[in-house]
Amino acid sequence: MSARISASLDGRVPWGASWIRLCLVALGIVFLCRTHAAHAAPPVVFSKQVLPILQAQCLGCHGGAHPASGYTMETRDRLIAGGRHGAAILPGKGAKSNLTLYLIGELKPKMPPGGAMDLEKIALIRRWIDEGAKVDTMNAVPAATPKAAIPAIPTPSTALQPAPITALAYAPDGKALAVGGYRVVRLLDPATGEVIRTLSGAADQVQALAYSSDGKLLAAAGGIPGKAGEVVLYDTQTGKPLRTLVGHTEVVYAVAWKPNSRELATGSLDKTACIWNADTGQCTRTLKDHADAVFGVAYSPDGKLLATGSADRSAKLFDTTIWKCVAVLTAHQDAVTHVAFNRDGTLLATAGADRQIRIWKVEIGKMENPLRQQGEGDTINACAFSPDGSLLVWGASNRVVKVFNGDGSNQMREMKDAQDWVYSIAIGNDNQTVAAGTQDGKVLFWNGREGKLLRTVTLLPTGAKIEAAK
Ligand code: HEC
Repeated sequence: MSARISASLDGRVPWGASWIRLCLVALGIVFLCRTHAAHAAPPVVFSKQVLPILQAQCLGCHGGAHPASGYTMETRDRLIAGGRHGAAILPGKGAKSNLTLYLIGELKPKMPPGGAMDLEKIALIRRWIDEGAKVDTMNAVPAATPKAAIPAIPTPSTALQPAPITALAYAPDGKALAVGGYRVVRLLDPATGEVIRTLSGAADQVQALAYSSDGKLLAAAGGIPGKAGEVVLYDTQTGKPLRTLVGHTEVVYAVAWKPNSRELATGSLDKTACIWNADTGQCTRTLKDHADAVFGVAYSPDGKLLATGSADRSAKLFDTTIWKCVAVLTAHQDAVTHVAFNRDGTLLATAGADRQIRIWKVEIGKMENPLRQQGEGDTINACAFSPDGSLLVWGASNRVVKVFNGDGSNQMREMKDAQDWVYSIAIGNDNQTVAAGTQDGKVLFWNGREGKLLRTVTLLPTGAKIEAAK
């Protein structure tokens, strides 16, 4: 796993590299045979022939809130536009497109990491690009049998690997840490790392978690990519799902409770933020102010403001009494992945795929520039203030977790124990235990003030077992 992170794009491999030539020759042969035989072959149909391949082998990393290399394949525009390394697809030019070059390994690291795609499939994708990279629909073709109707989303757990830990939340009383995985939420005893309880009922990967202020309800956000978003509300006493909030047309990546209330907010890949009534399960308001996916939502501690962060590179603040956008924060150069208020609501932290965290003084009307910013080596996927506001912690794709003082002016610690991308961060109510969830299915606990690793918990792919048992 770690190899794919350390492997950097050192430019092109010399053409002399014989295995690559071999690969290209083989690809050429497959391709020639194909075009030859396909003299009368109909054009490649994206949704039937290409999308299933991408879903099975690519979308697990090139989708969601934190796509690898900033490259998401979830919309046609993004699929073509590529990520950090520029255009992935040059329509009409299959052999010159980055996507093909990564698949054959001419661009490094070879995709998919740790495996290789069949040459036939590569040839098919190349032919599709040659034919103009036309996308009929981004929705997978409905499968014939009801069982297979759940699309084969390439969640690592289906391959019996641990699912990434995309969400973490401490119960308000500090007695449990909720951990989001594939179709399940596990409640860990923070003192021992033992799984106390497993909550089922989520349709797919759990992308965000939040406890209501009284600790009675736990919201688990997610949904099935390309189909629908959902938020499952669990009764924390019984561990049973109480109700499921439906309405988002795409995966929900962010969820937050208004403090001391039954209202909650969600952010989705469908570009909207919704406000919900937990008792009725109804969406009471849809905010359509963002031009792209909403990856972060947070209420100020007094509940008067709602902050949102989006792939459109902006963060916005809404007055929750009149539901008007009262501030637009535009400093980020790439998707805003996470937003968090400090304890007294005076500061807002926004984390970005532009590898920056920005700290804003919350002063409506005077928020043109952040108070300060700190750079990181890679996409910052999550950030959190400690409950007392004395620490600001973030985790990034370079596997680093950093601890700063509460206004982000001084670095206190840097933890490099994670072996894979850090996706989620939570701080215990002792204001010093830092928990981080990683791509390789681990939860790491540190004393954040000392920078000392306390324990690493590996969560086995329960999701896969559940699936197999069905
Ligand atoms: C396990 C995660 C993972 C999977 C699965 C994966 N990729 Fe990637 N991909 C990455 C990472 C990480 C990078 C960044 C590599 C780098 O530049 O160091 C990347 C980069 C890319 C890029 C360059 C994007 C850019 O502009 O930065 C392309 C194109 C790409 N992958 C295509 C694919 C295709 C096609 C598949 C499916 C066959 C695939 N990837 C599967 C992790 C993955």
